[in-house]
Amino acid sequence: MKQPSILLIISGSIAAYKSLDLIRRLREQQITVRCIITKGGEQFVTPLSVAAISENQAYTDLFSLKDEVEMGHIRLSREADLVVVAPASADLIAKMANGLADDLASATLLASNKTVVVAPAMNTQMWNHPATQRNIKQIQSDGAVVIDPAEGMLACGETGAGRMADVDNIAKIILNQLNKKLKIEKIFKALVTSGPTHEAIDPVRYIGNRSSGKQGHAIAVALAQLGVDVTLITGPTQLVDPKGIKVVHITSADEMLKACDATLPVQVAVCAAAIGDWRASQPSARKLKKTQGNALHELQLIENPDILAHIAQHKTLRPALVVGFAAETEDTVANAIAKRKRKGCDWILANDVSGDKGFNADDNQVTLISAKGTEPWPLMGKDAIADKLAILIQQFMGKHV
Ligand code: PMT
Repeated sequence: MKQPSILLIISGSIAAYKSLDLIRRLREQQITVRCIITKGGEQFVTPLSVAAISENQAYTDLFSLKDEVEMGHIRLSREADLVVVAPASADLIAKMANGLADDLASATLLASNKTVVVAPAMNTQMWNHPATQRNIKQIQSDGAVVIDPAEGMLACGETGAGRMADVDNIAKIILNQLNKKLKIEKIFKALVTSGPTHEAIDPVRYIGNRSSGKQGHAIAVALAQLGVDVTLITGPTQLVDPKGIKVVHITSADEMLKACDATLPVQVAVCAAAIGDWRASQPSARKLKKTQGNALHELQLIENPDILAHIAQHKTLRPALVVGFAAETEDTVANAIAKRKRKGCDWILANDVSGDKGFNADDNQVTLISAKGTEPWPLMGKDAIADKLAILIQQFMGKHV
């Protein structure tokens, strides 16, 4: 499978150093990155550092006979799936708006037939100047996707709008644009949580629950079978790691939260794990002693982080689709509807776990709840539930991202 490919144009702004971080993040997502550096950009980053991080030659000169023969400016733009200008200086934006083509970057942009994502970075007066705002409107109406600069302290000492947007945010927008272009399946990533958590009381005792991981693992497998790039984050279970899937083993809720954060960005998150709501406020470093005839009178508990809510309400890396489960023993659907709203996820599968149902069973009965309403599913094997959910997720991603 061909790797998705980006042409990154780095122009003259102090924010150019951040483009090295952007290249690294795109490379981590297996995206090929080719770079053009303008003369201004070269004042802030060197072709050598850009080439080393992108693992590709960095291009600088329109009239380089060698470069034009090997990879001319037309081919540079045609071979990329997406063109990104980050940072985009006021000067380069003005050239884009007016169709100038007097250097490699502007000539390549004029010759491009691809979507162009532009992340401006400049002094706040330059950004607010009517000429720049006119140019921004012009490139937007020509089809460019502009990522507004952030507000804050600028390198020149002034405060206001003009800082290049957060690199995380730019990377996420690039991935979304690529997903649209490449019809999602090729780089669609999902995170699935599964199993219980164990919250230590002392070195040998813990607070846990009866989750076996069967449901969460089945969902990870079903998504992977559709070609999705899945990371399964699982608490302690008896299950064998599914083949061909990245598996991260954790023990406590805190560890699961860290593993989820390290896995973002993903396009889809499915939280099927039964995470302990509480943990001991001060787990004992030594085994608690049982004194004859004495009960353990007090075990102070504190709340664990809510991972589903954390992912669903993430300010910069919220996946396009966040799915939770709601394990309930009474008023299953009503409680799950409230839980979906409270946590901020898109879909929630209401799971009746009264008696022997749900936990550790081979079958499960769920009701899918979304903003559109509720849809009860019949009692099914956990594999069949996983297959049905995976197909719905794939359809959603095909339509919405
Ligand atoms: O593992 P199995 O034996 O196959 O059983 C499957 C299952 C019953 C565990 C599974 O289908 C299920 O219902 N999982 C959710 C269990 C649960 O913890 O439900 P909850 O209603 O307490 O939590 C609601 C949602 O918030 C869940 O998506 C949960 O992952 C998440 N959560 C809960 C607590 C917390 N601290 N952080 C969370 O993210």
